[in-house]
Amino acid sequence: MKKVEVIIRPEKLEDFKLILKELSISGMMVSNVMGHGKQLGYTQQYRGTKYSVNLVSKLKVEVVVKDAELADLLTLIKTKLSTGTVGDGKVFIYNVEDAMRIRTGETGDSAL
Ligand SMILES: Nc1ncnc2c1ncn2[C@@H]1O[C@H](COP(=O)(O)OP(=O)(O)OP(=O)(O)O)[C@@H](O)[C@H]1O
Ligand SMILES: [Mg+2]
Repeated sequence: MKKVEVIIRPEKLEDFKLILKELSISGMMVSNVMGHGKQLGYTQQYRGTKYSVNLVSKLKVEVVVKDAELADLLTLIKTKLSTGTVGDGKVFIYNVEDAMRIRTGETGDSAL
């Protein structure tokens, strides 16, 4: 299993939900986060702001998926969520050791 941590523009959440629907992925969690990437939170560099950092509101969407689902998920994220402008976000991918559904005790892929 993999955990996919996707930082997106808040207005892209509905598109993200459609991606999960298309792939029949059933679980997700969403948090509000603040952050910056390469541009330090500025879309343009003005004199005087060069050394300060601005935090931009984003959503962090976390989804744990089967290994076999990862490639399609990444493809759809790229094709549906890219606007081509800076700040589109980023995906971090982690190995997941195991999972368990508390109600039934199922583990592994069956727990997702
Ligand atoms: N290296 C990183 N570590 C942790 N969080 C990051 C990192 N890079 C980006 N983020 C998070 O992702 C959000 C969006 O980043 P962003 O898309 O601007 O990345 P970027 O590397 O600047 O790419 P781009 O040049 O396309 O803007 C940031 O606001 C921050 O929350
Ligand atoms: Mg950026």
